[in-house]
Parts: sequence; structure tokens; C-alpha cells
Amino acid sequence: MKNEHHRGFATRQIHAGKEKNPKGALSTPIYQTSTFEFDSVAHGGACFAGEEHGYIYTRLGNPSLEAVEKKVASLEGGHAALAAASGMGAISTVLWTLLSSGDEVVADETLYGCTFSLLAHQFGRFGITATFHDFTNPDNLNAALSEKTKIVYFETPCNPTLKIVDIKAIADAVHTYNPEIKVIVDNTFSSPYLQTPLALGADIVVHSATKYLNGHGDVIGGFIVGDENLIECCREIGVKDLTGAALSPFNAFLIERGLKTLDIRMEKHCSNAEKLAGYLRGHPAVTRIYYPGFEDFPGHEIAKKQMRRFGGMIAVEFAMSREETAAAINNLELCTIAVSLGDAETLVEQPATMTHSAYNADELKAAGIPESLVRISVGLEDAEDIIADFDRVLPT
Ligand SMILES: Cc1ncc(COP(=O)(O)O)c(C=O)c1O
Repeated sequence: MKNEHHRGFATRQIHAGKEKNPKGALSTPIYQTSTFEFDSVAHGGACFAGEEHGYIYTRLGNPSLEAVEKKVASLEGGHAALAAASGMGAISTVLWTLLSSGDEVVADETLYGCTFSLLAHQFGRFGITATFHDFTNPDNLNAALSEKTKIVYFETPCNPTLKIVDIKAIADAVHTYNPEIKVIVDNTFSSPYLQTPLALGADIVVHSATKYLNGHGDVIGGFIVGDENLIECCREIGVKDLTGAALSPFNAFLIERGLKTLDIRMEKHCSNAEKLAGYLRGHPAVTRIYYPGFEDFPGHEIAKKQMRRFGGMIAVEFAMSREETAAAINNLELCTIAVSLGDAETLVEQPATMTHSAYNADELKAAGIPESLVRISVGLEDAEDIIADFDRVLPT
């Protein structure tokens, strides 16, 4: 679709990235091929996918991937995007591409468990250091930046406590200190329908497309969004040589299909979360609820400023021991105990033992993640049925 940038979100989520198909197919076909034919050996030369000679090998580029990359770039308001085999594939690809031994990453302290593990427990072996801070206090960030800092990294809302970080304030502070530092935001919890960090000054957005972007719990995938030069480096150095984390054409097709309904799915996730949070807030078994939509939630005003609505995620602490909490959750019938989020099904998990088990007890404490915390990814079922399921298992 030409000149799509002025069009609305719903139009772009359906049409952006679509090429007119020579055979007239309305949907982007699945180019389920590992390699592409050349006319001659000389023709193969040293060209790369997307250059004038066309496609070479799916790790370097494929029309199915290209279609969904253009769509995600358009939705995030970025120049270009790169599809990766998973969210961690996207995160590790961009980090490995940009970092060298001796460099430092300054990160918020509350992150998805595997991202934290990569930064805190793995990078040290390669001479890359990471320090962790609470980005809700800008003084912490300013004190942490140094001439070694190459990347500032955070999520908002954070996994799993829904902490809200002010994207514009952080991006401005970092770029005032040094415009060369890349600010990377993991936008998985919001999706571009609720929030577009690039418009607020971030340099790069990463996604686990496994979650809301695909939305149907049947794909692992990820994206990096940024300027053309960054994406080219991530493709031709990152995915080609460092990680090899290319998305499969079939998964690209599924994500492209899922994206066509992103706005209406997000609206329902948000509405259902609002209703469930309202119910849980009034329940005597709940001691604390983490939901950015509540006026008394720290960061609510920032969320209101930078998000369209407050998202589909809730976290809860109950007035029960960890064992009693687990027993209640185990009795849920409609809601499913599972990691992941952003699916049609309501998913419930305990971060300390599941998604965030890479954090040890001290690290959990520092990140503000209570060991008994329960995280709920509110699905697309009837809100009344989700509430009834919790009502049945929670003691009164
Ligand atoms: C915020 C966030 N970022 C990244 C990831 C990693 O994504 P993936 O599981 O697709 O590798 C996850 C996974 O749960 C996540 O929640």
C-alpha cells in the first residue's frame, strides 16, 4: 500500500505491507521455501535479500517476512522492522548487533525473566556489563549513565508488576546525556495499538510477537523496529551471523493474519481487564492489585499520557500464604495456568516460580516482585465468566 502513513491504525493493520500478488491472492501467500533460485551463478554473486537481485535464502529475507515486517514498522511508526524467531531472538539479535566487549547496558530492574538473565547472568562472560535501576526515579538513571553506556533498556508496563516508566522522560534524559546511546523499549505488554515508544523519543522497539501481536497462542516470534540502518545491521550482521534467529514463513503468515484484528482484540483485553481488576479490588482475599488503570496506581498519570488504554494485564497479591494462593489458582476451571500472555484465553501464572524464575530471592526483592504474586493475562472470553471463575476459588 503506497503512502500509508496518514491512514488510521485499523487500515494499516490490515493493508500495510501488502504487495499486489501476481496470481491475485488477497492474503500474502506463505513462501515456504528455504532458498531462492538464481538465473545464473554470476547472478548469485554477493547480493543480499532485498537488493536488486532479489531473495537468496530465508534467513536473509523472504516475501512472507517482508510483508509482516512492513506492517509492524508501519504500526509502530518506525522506518523498518526485522522479524525474528522469538521475542528473545529479537532482543538478543539487537543487543548482540549493537554491543561489544567493554560496553555497558543500563536497564530497568523489572524485566521479563529471560531478558534479565541475558543481561545479568550471561553477558558478563563476553565482557559486557549491565546495571539495573528503578527507572521511575530519573535520578537513578542519571547516576547510572557513563561513557561506557551504549544501551538503555526497559519495558513499560513492566513484566510482571505493570510498573509504568515514562518513555519520553527517559529518552530525553538519555539523549541529553549522550545522543549516541540507543534507548530500547520492549513494547510487548502494550502493543503498538496502545503505545508507540518511537513517537516518544525511543530509538528502538522490540516485541515478543508471541503475545498480543499474533494474539492466538500458536506462534513464537519477535520484532525489532527502528531506522533503516539499524534494521539492515540487525539483518546482515545480527540474524545472518550472530543469532540466526529468522522467523519462519509460516509464522510470519500467522502473525500477519493476527495483526489484522489487533485493535479490536486489544479493546476487549482492556475492557475485560478493567472489569476483572474492579472485581478483584473489592475482594477481601486480595491485599494488593497491580493495574495501571487505577487512579491510585503509581504511574497511572504517565500511563494515561503515553497509552491509549491501560492494557490487558493485572497482577495480584492475595491475603493467603504462597501455598494457599497456589491451591486457589489450581482450582480455576476456565482460566488456564500457563506462562505467556496476550492470547484469547485468560492465562494465570506465578512469576517467581515460572516466568521470572531466573531471578533469585534477592533479585526478586530488588525488582519489587513479591514471591506470591499472581499475574493474569486477561483473555477475550466473557468478562462475567472470567470473574465467576475467580469468585468460585477465592475464599470470602
Ligand atoms: C515482555 C517480554 N519480552 C520478551 C519476551 C520473550 O519473548 P519470546 O517468549 O517470544 O521469546 C517475553 C516473553 O514472555 C515477554 O513477556
